[in-house]
Parts: sequence; structure tokens; C-alpha cells
Amino acid sequence: MGFCLLASEAVGNALQMYSIFVDRKWRGQAVGSRLMAEAEGHCRSRNVRAIYLTTTLSNVNATAFYRKAGYRIVGIHARAYKETDGRVAFCKEL
Ligand SMILES: CC(C)(COP(=O)(O)OP(=O)(O)OC[C@H]1O[C@@H](n2cnc3c(N)ncnc32)[C@H](O)[C@@H]1OP(=O)(O)O)[C@@H](O)C(=O)NCCC(=O)NCCS
Repeated sequence: MGFCLLASEAVGNALQMYSIFVDRKWRGQAVGSRLMAEAEGHCRSRNVRAIYLTTTLSNVNATAFYRKAGYRIVGIHARAYKETDGRVAFCKEL
């Protein structure tokens, strides 16, 4: 149905979320929101105070999803070496 991948070690009080993915046929049915809430609860219970993550600039669906979940944009990186797209960085304080 879907998965969410968090870093195993915090940097300071922050943790990186590497990826969140919902199977195509389950999208738009709040599965991603539930996965995100579960991940945030997991972090809070371990005293993690912020989650940061990035996605590609062209991923407008993910950008809308993260913003709806309360993540704010903290940086925009121009196209990195060998990448075809730039990246946008988000952060949420828990
Ligand atoms: C991004 C992703 C995880 C969202 O999961 P989801 O289960 O479809 O999201 P939800 O149903 O919980 O949506 C929550 C909110 O996010 C926003 N959102 C989600 N998908 C959206 C889309 N395609 N277009 C616009 N807004 C969207 C909406 O605001 C939505 O709230 P609403 O339903 O009240 O309008 C899913 O689309 C996905 O797996 N995409 C492919 C992988 C990916 O891009 N991952 C992120 C980058 S690593």
C-alpha cells in the first residue's frame, strides 16, 4: 500500500525523511497523510524535534502534499550535478 523511510540517526534534534510512497491505486485516499502522521508520532516519541526532507522541483504533487502536512520550504537548490531537476527542501518542527 505504501511506505515511509526515515533516517536511523538524528542530526541534532532533526531527522531526515528519505522517502514516502503510496501505491498508485491508493493515492488521494489519505494513506500518505496517515503514514506521515505515524512517522511524526514515532519521531516525537523519540524526542526528535524536526523532520526535514527534499523532493524534486517538478514534483508538484509531493510539494502540495508536504505543504498540506505543515512542512515549510527552507531552501531551493538549483539542478545538482548529474541530476535532471532541482530540489526543494522542507522542514517541519514537531
Ligand atoms: C505524495 C504522496 C505520498 C501523497 O500520498 P497520498 O496518500 O496520495 O496523499 P493524501 O491522500 O494523504 O493527500 C493529503 C493532501 O496532500 C495533497 N495532495 C496529495 N496528492 C496531491 C496531488 N496529486 N495533487 C495535489 N495535491 C495533492 C492534498 O492537499 C491532500 O489533501 P486533500 O485530499 O484534502 O486535498 C503520493 O502521491 C506518492 O506516493 N507519490 C509518489 C512518490 C512521491 O512523489 N513521494 C514524495 C517524494 S519522495
